[in-house]
Amino acid sequence: MRIKTGIEGFDGLVEGGLLQGRQYLVSGSPGSGKTTFGVQFLAAGALEGEPGAYVALSESIGTIIEDMSRYNLHLDELIKKKKLFFLDIGPTMNYGEYDEISTYITPTHEQLPGESAENIPPSPYTVYKNVETLVKQYGIKRLVIDSLSAIRFTTQEPPKEERSIGRFIRNLKNVGCTTLLLSELTKPDAYTIEQFASHGVIFLHNFMDKGSMVRAMQIIKMRGTKHDCDMHGIEFTEKGLKVQKTTKK
Ligand SMILES: Nc1ncnc2c1ncn2[C@@H]1O[C@H](COP(=O)(O)OP(=O)(O)OP(=O)(O)O)[C@@H](O)[C@H]1O
Ligand SMILES: [Mg+2]
Repeated sequence: MRIKTGIEGFDGLVEGGLLQGRQYLVSGSPGSGKTTFGVQFLAAGALEGEPGAYVALSESIGTIIEDMSRYNLHLDELIKKKKLFFLDIGPTMNYGEYDEISTYITPTHEQLPGESAENIPPSPYTVYKNVETLVKQYGIKRLVIDSLSAIRFTTQEPPKEERSIGRFIRNLKNVGCTTLLLSELTKPDAYTIEQFASHGVIFLHNFMDKGSMVRAMQIIKMRGTKHDCDMHGIEFTEKGLKVQKTTKK
């Protein structure tokens, strides 16, 4: 079954939409539109009666809701109707609590002496457990996790981290939601575990060319789907992201 994303111009590039119950990676540089893409996807489902949840790990949900409410996506109404949920499970890090980010990344991901529990970044397992509970409790069908990068840097052991991220993505399949995993990793050719483990990979580009900003989207991978491979221009409208028919070189 194909899931309509609600992103104008996108579904036609992927045989009508995403596959139900699969995990997709939406990767891009800062400000490239990952959150907008995710919230539009949830709002489109919620408007059709499918509950959706946005799990924030690196930015406060208050800010996300405030910024995304600028678009005409009926967020307020959907939240009130319990069709749209925003869950904050990131650490509460206030400036001054840590002098260096290195003290926040612990090799074992265990609590350091003097460190309060709410400042510890969540592990993939903690996030999974929270998501599982939320999904069961509210019958969530669409899920966005913002971001995978936030749970990636919870250990100083790269091989262990790779395995743990791969396991996280595979386990997410068990909760049964169609999931967008947002990621700040930006190199399409970096071949990270999240690209291998996800069923599809979408890149959002945001770069300067001859003094002007180029915004574009490209589908890198989409298992079981005959998809478009070109780089398409994107624009932000009052309803969020819109994928243009025109392709960029
Ligand atoms: N109301 C709006 N109308 C038009 N464009 C907007 C609007 N709000 C935000 N934008 C554009 O969208 C960009 C941010 O989009 P979004 O938050 O979805 O990106 P992101 O990839 O999630 O960013 P980050 O990496 O910081 O989380 C802004 O930098 C701005 O260029
Ligand atoms: Mg974002």
